[in-house]
Amino acid sequence: MSVEVLINEVGPRDGLQNQQKILSVDEKHSLISAIANAGVKSVEVGAFVSPKAVPAMAGTDSLVKKIKDSSLQYSVLIPNMKGFELAYESGARRLNLVVASSNTMNEKNIRMNTEAAMKTCIEVIECAGKQEDAVNIQAYVATAWECPFEGKMPQDKILELTARLIDAGVSKVVLADTVGGANPQDTKSLMDFLVSKFGNEILSCHFHDTRAMGLANIYAALTSGIREFDASIAGLGGCPFSPGASGNVATEDVVMMLHQMGYKTGINLEKLLQASDLAMELTGSAPGGRAKLWLKNYLNKNYDDRSKI
Ligand code: COA
Ligand code: ZN
Repeated sequence: MSVEVLINEVGPRDGLQNQQKILSVDEKHSLISAIANAGVKSVEVGAFVSPKAVPAMAGTDSLVKKIKDSSLQYSVLIPNMKGFELAYESGARRLNLVVASSNTMNEKNIRMNTEAAMKTCIEVIECAGKQEDAVNIQAYVATAWECPFEGKMPQDKILELTARLIDAGVSKVVLADTVGGANPQDTKSLMDFLVSKFGNEILSCHFHDTRAMGLANIYAALTSGIREFDASIAGLGGCPFSPGASGNVATEDVVMMLHQMGYKTGINLEKLLQASDLAMELTGSAPGGRAKLWLKNYLNKNYDDRSKI
């Protein structure tokens, strides 16, 4: 039986937050519907952050209201208690906190140092536990390999942040290569280290393709036992607060690689390519997966043997 890998689509949040063109709520909704229609089960749809800091994420409350009755497992990013309150009020029950590995990155991103960001995470988790409805909280450890301001990050620092988040009660910690600074060797080294401490099930990975190592890093993390990955439709992405970061690894490339290696994702690649086309059309600037041309040719030729995709 083939092993399952869960893809968490982050294009509507991580991808769109950095695009020049700001999509309307309806446009975001159509993109999310196309992604869900391809069989993607988990999508980060937006963020409850300051609209002054990230104008593209305005309207996340209206978006959540539009999708909250669907079967989609959707989540939203929240940076602080206000984000938690707004998200809970909108009806969102899967929330993603974020703490970066360095003081400089945390200051640039959420205007707190690392200790304050961690304290905020713990307060939000405690508050979430007291609500009437169950709330699922995941946390991102951003710049887990490299910070654009402070350079390579020591593994012990990442271990400490991960351990504190798990102790506080998050359901998952996502190790994020926010700037695309990881390489497969460093990915394997960090993920082996963390898996040896916490097991594989509570960990997930998020890679940017800035230096064309996104897929290689996913492969490296797979060999450490990681079975959940973020990816972004059409390779949309980049963080407004980390100079030089380009898009996330494209969902269509990740899914193609996983299927060719015999993993199961439950995603239909033909439909995923339609969602990727839509992302390119709506934004006008999404790069598209690097294998997209090959994939389209392959699908159009209607080969008998489709076992490879
Ligand atoms: N959602 C919406 N508005 C928020 C908010 C949230 N989660 N948190 C604070 N605000 C508002 C405040 O109400 C205040 O509004 P006002 O100017 O109209 O009074 C304003 O933002 C400033 O509030 P303050 O608490 O002083 O925040 P800040 O200026 O220190 O900024 C953040 C902190 C976290 C709100 C801001 O840096 C941010 O939104 N960062 C986004 C980071 C991000 O999305 N990064 C990419 C993904 S990792
Ligand atoms: Zn990212």
